[in-house]
Amino acid sequence: MKKAVLITGASAGIGLATAKYLADQGYQVFGTTRSITKRQAVVDEAKAKYGDQLQFIELDVTKDESVKSAISDVMNKAGHLDAVVCNAGSGIYGTVEEMPMAMVYSQFETNYFGYLRVLQAVIPSMRERKAGHIVLLSSLGGVVCVPFQSHYSAGKYAVEGLTQGLRQELYGTGVKVAAIRPGDIQTEFNDTTYLNIPENSPYKKRCQACWDVINKNMKIAPKPILVAKKIHKVLKSKNPKAYYTAADFVSSLLPILFPLMTSKLKEKILRIFYGIDFK
Ligand SMILES: NC(=O)c1ccc[n+]([C@@H]2O[C@H](COP(=O)([O-])OP(=O)(O)OC[C@H]3O[C@@H](n4cnc5c(N)ncnc54)[C@H](OP(=O)(O)O)[C@@H]3O)[C@@H](O)[C@H]2O)c1
Repeated sequence: MKKAVLITGASAGIGLATAKYLADQGYQVFGTTRSITKRQAVVDEAKAKYGDQLQFIELDVTKDESVKSAISDVMNKAGHLDAVVCNAGSGIYGTVEEMPMAMVYSQFETNYFGYLRVLQAVIPSMRERKAGHIVLLSSLGGVVCVPFQSHYSAGKYAVEGLTQGLRQELYGTGVKVAAIRPGDIQTEFNDTTYLNIPENSPYKKRCQACWDVINKNMKIAPKPILVAKKIHKVLKSKNPKAYYTAADFVSSLLPILFPLMTSKLKEKILRIFYGIDFK
């Protein structure tokens, strides 16, 4: 019997690459999007290549009812879930001082509470079956904060904590939990990020300079297949680690080297890297 996996946010980027890769590996994949109509080309292409082995369903992680009905749809179709990949996410960029509160709530609604809604819907059946893999998309931004991405990073730090907590709670139940920490990966992420760099902002010069570097880095970043393969590695593992980095070689060193440095040194390195080491 094929292993059934649910991937949230599978219509683009990391989620789409993972959906295709896992379908290629023989998994029964359920990928989600908020709107099949808006993603019709992606859905049609998947249908043509994979048939029912990669099915798209509508799910908005910010809405309780949407999550409940999507999970019950998957359960009706597959009978059970062997794995869930909480991946659907978005970004916001700007200063702490100037970011509209509504956008901060919206960021956490998707990137943290969105994971939680899906987890609460899938964990009971995994626990009862005494089996399952839960993969949470964190970020290297959950290890160190990229300047002007405080709220995105805060959400990913929350996911890092959630990973540790869940691993302890589910210890001995047969349900395995791991987080993936991608570095920069070439996806739609920057295009959909909510940007708040007001023209008259006192931070304008540094905030814009940093965003320019972030965008430049994205253009030369690894493709999402790198992350898809790391997720597959976790799904194959009987006893996964808590955290897996999926990044280019230099960025992969970050979780190893940064804990050895003082805060001031880390901050200086980041300012230089992002071209904002000026006042
Ligand atoms: N790209 C990077 O450099 C990078 C680095 C570290 C971590 N990550 C993390 O990796 C994950 C995927 O990012 P990505 O780069 O692949 O982004 P992406 O290309 O922008 O794709 C985002 C996906 O999330 C879905 N989505 C967004 N909001 C949603 C919501 N409210 N409910 C349900 N689905 C929603 C989108 O689906 P629809 O629009 O079709 O609904 C889309 O499939 C995120 O958690 C991100 O934080 C990315």
